[in-house]
Amino acid sequence: MALRNRQKMVMLPMQVWDLPVRLFHWLLLPLLPAAYLTMKGGYPAVHLIIGYVLLALVLFRVLWGLFGSDTARFAQFLRRPAAAVHHLRRLTVAEPDNEVGHNAAGGWMVLFMLLLLLVQAVTGLFAHHKGGPDGPLAKFLGDTAAGLVTNVHGANFKLIFFAAAGHVAVVAVYLFIKKQNLIRPMVTGKKRLPAATRAPRLRSRLLALLLLIVAGVVSATLATQF
Ligand code: HEM
Repeated sequence: MALRNRQKMVMLPMQVWDLPVRLFHWLLLPLLPAAYLTMKGGYPAVHLIIGYVLLALVLFRVLWGLFGSDTARFAQFLRRPAAAVHHLRRLTVAEPDNEVGHNAAGGWMVLFMLLLLLVQAVTGLFAHHKGGPDGPLAKFLGDTAAGLVTNVHGANFKLIFFAAAGHVAVVAVYLFIKKQNLIRPMVTGKKRLPAATRAPRLRSRLLALLLLIVAGVVSATLATQF
């Protein structure tokens, strides 16, 4: 019924995801396996460099979640837990996608994944790396504490792996069961939405670049000054 009503509605393409969010998202895809493989493959120095890049990206995403476009902002996409539960109850119902940004449940999942990524990058700063350079802040911890943080760094990576696998599985459920293609908008930035939908306010790429520079400087300072 809802699908039939939508056919009668005037639909227009609308920019929902800005370039910074899309770049951040798709850069995670090669960088996370690269971080893992360089560590396992015996290239800890390269692993550290990738870690600094990931730290800068996650710090940038946190700043963008505070000062960026509407659909990137935590305050916009973190909705009441009851709304998330209501959304999950309809997970397998095929219906039109009228969400401008993350849906009520997806917003919490995004926060969870960003927290995991932040924990990963920060613990890496304090971690021991077998057969290679330690994280730059490891020297400020005693052996026991550094060992503990290193274990958290390893265990948290497994959590990221399972969270990412769960995330991709949920995106597939949306595609094949709920009949909503969330992937295309994450690539193109655009979604077809009812003409009456209020467009999100997108912030300038210059602001994004400035915030990325701030995040990069923080990460580079940690990498080189300690
Ligand atoms: C083939 C692999 C992947 C696909 C197809 C995919 C797809 C998507 C899609 C469609 C969204 C938008 C969801 C929405 O409409 O609310 C999204 C968001 C997100 N995904 Fe993925 N994803 C993939 C891999 C990953 C990986 C490996 C991670 C890292 C843990 C990740 C983390 C995130 C995060 C943090 C967001 C929120 C983006 C933001 O607001 O900044 N994704 N993903």
